Amino acid sequence: MRTLEAVIFDMDGVLTETSHQHFLAWKMLAQKLGYDLPNAVNDQVKGISRLESLEIVLKAGNMSDKFSDSEKVQMADDKNAIYQSLIKEFTKENVSEGALELLKSLKENNIKIGLASVSKNAPFLLEAMEISEYFDVVVDPREIKHGKPAPDIFLMAAKKLGAAPENCIGVEDAYAGVESIKSAKMTPVGIGTKEVLSNCETVLSNLNEVNIEFLRRLL
Ligand code: BG6
Ligand code: MG
Repeated sequence: MRTLEAVIFDMDGVLTETSHQHFLAWKMLAQKLGYDLPNAVNDQVKGISRLESLEIVLKAGNMSDKFSDSEKVQMADDKNAIYQSLIKEFTKENVSEGALELLKSLKENNIKIGLASVSKNAPFLLEAMEISEYFDVVVDPREIKHGKPAPDIFLMAAKKLGAAPENCIGVEDAYAGVESIKSAKMTPVGIGTKEVLSNCETVLSNLNEVNIEFLRRLL
């Protein structure tokens, strides 16, 4: 029988609504380059690392081959500076609906909590939103060879938590993130819509709908 040992969360779009700020920053970068970034790109960059997202953004403007690697690094830095200016005033008010209640009840029930975000800004957000104390493990994306949809980041979180992957639930808002959870042999919970998360059996509109009994039944 499977026992719920750990819940491993994504950050952007799950614990807080930063997907909007990420996209806005890409949109501003595209504008500087002279094109309007289509809204459809928003879902394509969710869960995808900064440099890989830049490739998707440049492709949308037919600019894939226009820049050298060092120019791309500079553009990714510029996007990050815009993004950081958009989240600099985040506080606990920015924690997603239902997230704090869920984190508290997982802690009270001795279920381990991990963070598997590919964002290098995730530690800042944990501090700014005052939720660091709930996390037993925060994976550093620099330790990961392959980003989402590869299983590496969720597997690393489970390993550091000392939990068996089949006893872990992963919570994600991105298609690539759900793929990552599934290939790590964990059970995914999607936050968002079935339209975007067509690869996820359990999709909820927010964390308010999640409690421990619900999670246990999913395993
Ligand atoms: C993910 C976001 O969580 O982090 C992506 O969904 C983002 O949109 C990625 O590109 C990397 O984030 P950062 O903050 O390191 O640029
Ligand atoms: Mg996300």
